[in-house]
Order: sequence, then C-alpha cells, then structure tokens
Amino acid sequence: MRVLVVGSGGREHALAWKIAASPLVDEVLAAPGSDGMAGVARCLPQVKASDLDAVVTVARDEAVDLVVVGPEDPLAAGLVDRLREAGIASFGPSAEAARLEGSKQFAKEFMARHGIPTAEFAVFDALEPARAYVRERGGPCVVKADGLAAGKGVFVCDGPDAALVALDEIMGERRFGEAGARVVIEERMEGEEASYYAITDGERVVTLAAAQDHKRALDGDRGENTGGMGAYSPAPVVSDAVEKRILEEIVHPAIRGMARDGRPYTGVLYVGLMIDAAGAPRVVEFNVRFGDPETQPLLMRMEGDLVPLLDGAARGRLEPETKLGWGDAAVCVVLASEGYPRAYETGRAIDGLDALAGESDVVVFHAGTRRGADGRFETAGGRVLGVTARGASVAVARERAYAAADRIRFDGRHLRRDIADRALDR
Ligand code: AMP
Ligand code: GLY
Repeated sequence: MRVLVVGSGGREHALAWKIAASPLVDEVLAAPGSDGMAGVARCLPQVKASDLDAVVTVARDEAVDLVVVGPEDPLAAGLVDRLREAGIASFGPSAEAARLEGSKQFAKEFMARHGIPTAEFAVFDALEPARAYVRERGGPCVVKADGLAAGKGVFVCDGPDAALVALDEIMGERRFGEAGARVVIEERMEGEEASYYAITDGERVVTLAAAQDHKRALDGDRGENTGGMGAYSPAPVVSDAVEKRILEEIVHPAIRGMARDGRPYTGVLYVGLMIDAAGAPRVVEFNVRFGDPETQPLLMRMEGDLVPLLDGAARGRLEPETKLGWGDAAVCVVLASEGYPRAYETGRAIDGLDALAGESDVVVFHAGTRRGADGRFETAGGRVLGVTARGASVAVARERAYAAADRIRFDGRHLRRDIADRALDR
C-alpha cells in the first residue's frame, strides 16, 4: 500500500512513523510533511494541507491507496469529501461530521440532543449580552471562541473579571479572527481531565486507549492554554469502570447520534473528558482527529498495526474485533520556543538530535523544525519537538523522556518539568 499523510506537525510525524512500520505499507508520502519527517515519509513540501485541490491531485497522481488527514482545518474544509468524490479512500470525517469540532455550539447542541453528559452552556453573537451574562451569572466559567482557534481560544476563568477580559480578547479584539465572532460560555467543570480515542467507520467501533494532555504553558497547570505541552498514556484516572462509562454514555451514543442525524462519523473520535471524583465522565470537547501531542505517546504504546484500522474505517469495513496490543506506558515531553503560545522567534539551531537517533525506546517527533542553510535542524514553530519514550511504567517512560529531552538544546528552549506527575501521584 501507498499511504499519504496530510499535515506537517508532531502528530503527523507520529502517524507517518507508525504507518511506515506496518508490513502492509510500501511507501508513506506526506503533504506537505516536514524535514523532520523525511526519515519515514517522502515529503511533498509544495502540497499544502490547506490546498484541497493540490492534495486531491497529488493523491491521484501518486496513485495512493489511502489518505490519512492529520489536522482539523482540511477536514472542516471538506478534504475527505473531495477525496471520496475522486474515489480515493480517506481516513477522517466529512465536513458535515467535522462540525463536531469546528463549531462548539454545534457540538453542545448535538450533546444536548443525544443526552451526552457535558457542561451547561450559553451562546452569544455580540459582546454586550455576553458581558451582561457573565456579570449576572457570577462565579467561575469558561469562555470559548466558537470556531477553530488551534486549541488556544479557551479561557478558564475564576470569576466575571477574568471572563470579561477573555470576552474582550476573543470578541472585541478578535485575537482569533472570525472564530471569535461567536462565543460559548460554559459552566466550569471540576475534576481530572483525560482524553479517549476510538476509531469508527460510522457504525463499528474499535476503541484505542486513554491519554492525558498538559494544555497550560507552565508547570502546575499555570499560564495560558497551548496546543499541548506534553502527554502520556495510559491515563490512570480512566480505570476499567470509568472506561466502561465513557463507552456507554459518550462514545457509542455519539457515533449512533451522528448516524441518526444523517452525518455518519468516520475516522477517529477524540473525546476530551472531565472525570469527577465519583468517576462520572463529562465531555469537555470532541475533536475529529488525533490529538497533538497525545498521538505521540499513544502510537508509541500501540503494538498492533494501525493501518488496517485506518483503512477499514476509510472504506466502511472496520473489523470491530481487532485486538491491538498495548505497551505499558509512554510519555511525550514537548520542547517549545520561548514565548509560545504568544509570539516567538524561529531559526534557532537545535543540538543533540543525532545522539538520540539510535535509542530504541525514545523517538523525537518533529513538530516545528526545518533544516537550515547548513543542513542542521533549527526551530521553525512554537512547539518544536515532542520527545517521546516508552517504558514498563509511566515513571520509567517519564524518566527516559526527560533524560532525552535534556540532551536536546536550543536557545529559548521551554519545557514543562511536571509532565505525567499526576499519574505518579496516584
Ligand atoms: P477545549 O478546547 O474546549 O478543550 O478547552 C481547552 C481546555 O480548557 C480544556 O482542556 C480544559 O482544560 C479547559 N476547559 C474547557 N471547557 C471547560 C469546562 N467547561 N470546565 C472546565 N474546564 C474546561
Ligand atoms: N492536545 C490537544 C489537541 O490535540 O486538541
């Protein structure tokens, strides 16, 4: 098989790495891919993930058997619809189904309609009524830009003052552009967060595993929300009993609900969860693609072959009895640029990557790097690298990931020192 991965970040590097390891696969291509992915995929830097025409054309010209779409934007723009029209099997939801992530209002109304547990919410299209609402409501709340904002358009607020500042940034200043033309204001849920992954062809489901992300920029979950500063899998908060509830109360009703609403969901369903002290799961958000950086530890733990699942989901013939083996644990530590998630500089030389290349339990996934004029890797994004290690326990994997991370240097390197600590405390 020839498989085309669409995207260029750490998640796509991990997907390409895992797909390339499949005995079913002869070649992996990546559009656009990145210099850091070149070891596992033939990259097509001229083909941007957002250029749907170019992706469809290259998929046809290269006679690929399967396209795997990494990021949400091309899904929301209808890439999978376009590929299917062209007769090319592709993994990911249609544009209609991708609204589950593309519009928070849509997701909230979907959950309400199908009895899926989530936080209470209100939706506003104008600043003044939104301001009045948070003032009247009082107490903690969460303010979210309705549209896609790369995981950064969410403000968890202790009270009305913070919420008013968030509203000004999202709606007043339009920090996230048109994604902020509408806001969703939610009840702030308490508990522990985890994410859960399942692959579906619209009807049949293969469950993957749980992971935990670290969205805030700084240790102790302080600082701003980012795309994710590290992740680990499994998530101890997701016990067998909690997993059963996630499947019965959320995953299966969601997949059935999408089919019933006439927009069958195919691809990977990523459920962002808040799990309270009694083990009751509620949905924080749905995403319509793999998580970044959760995919990096998830796929490092996965012992079985991912490709039959991707292909089965894409072709509407997923084998629900597929048994994947899972290694014990994996941890990913993100090395970011100083200043991320706000402005940062790029072009800083990265040292120490070559020395890690021979390690069997550590893989450094590239998120925002490029080869500079001298052929060496340099920084090219906010999240730069995802240093990922597996081990016989979260503690061992964590130790390995940090040991490796500390061998990689670049000016302004920022990392959290408490990735996976929560799993150790349990
Ligand atoms: P989202 O992009 O909707 O997943 O939100 C990003 C992060 O904000 C989540 O991972 C949570 O940490 C936090 N968050 C979002 N909604 C809520 C909520 N209703 N209650 C508590 N925390 C939330
Ligand atoms: N790490 C969070 C996300 O992929 O949305």
